[in-house]
Amino acid sequence: MSNSMSIAIVPPTTEADLRWLAHLWRSEWGGDGMVSRGHMYPLSALHALLAKVDGEFAGAATYRWDGAGGCELMSLNAIREGAGIGTKLLEAVERTAREAGCRRVWLITSNDNVDAMRFYQRRGYRISAVYPGAVDEARAVKPSIPLVGNHGIEIHDEIELAKSLAGEMR
Ligand SMILES: CC(C)(COP(=O)(O)OP(=O)(O)OC[C@H]1O[C@@H](n2cnc3c(N)ncnc32)[C@H](O)[C@@H]1OP(=O)(O)O)[C@@H](O)C(=O)NCCC(=O)NCCS
Repeated sequence: MSNSMSIAIVPPTTEADLRWLAHLWRSEWGGDGMVSRGHMYPLSALHALLAKVDGEFAGAATYRWDGAGGCELMSLNAIREGAGIGTKLLEAVERTAREAGCRRVWLITSNDNVDAMRFYQRRGYRISAVYPGAVDEARAVKPSIPLVGNHGIEIHDEIELAKSLAGEMR
């Protein structure tokens, strides 16, 4: 796949779009709900953006307004990794959040996801909080959360990353 391929970022509009998103969540996130900071958010309650390449589903981002001037990125997936799809989706979420008047975009990832930590930090995100043991607590709510994650790392902790939309974070 070349870097010059055209990636379209669109909100889901059809039943097929929503079905694909639900399927993606089941296969990648273990269900149709996401636990963040002790709350379970059903997919149906979130906003979404889809990435399409040549009309084919290629990735998705979901997010929500946190009620405190921020936008929480709830999920980000690229079906074909390393082709710029994740970056495009992240930029689209940030643009949407900025237009909605949000001051920051933030997200929770688990301690095993060192690839995501690299990905976000390379794109202006900073670690804004660490919650030791939070994934163990989330597992009580959502037992499908695995015990061992990426690179064989045990999953226990939540790491919050954030990017200020107003400029540099202090
Ligand atoms: C994290 C993720 C969304 C990034 O999306 P992506 O489309 O692969 O990202 P891009 O192509 O825009 O950028 C790729 C970056 O990741 C690196 N990368 C990670 N995995 C890669 C892979 N398998 N192949 C190539 N590059 C990869 C590249 O080096 C590049 O980093 P750099 O530009 O900072 O040097 C995607 O890898 C993914 O879906 N991961 C699984 C789900 C997940 O962990 N989501 C994040 C937590 S919510």
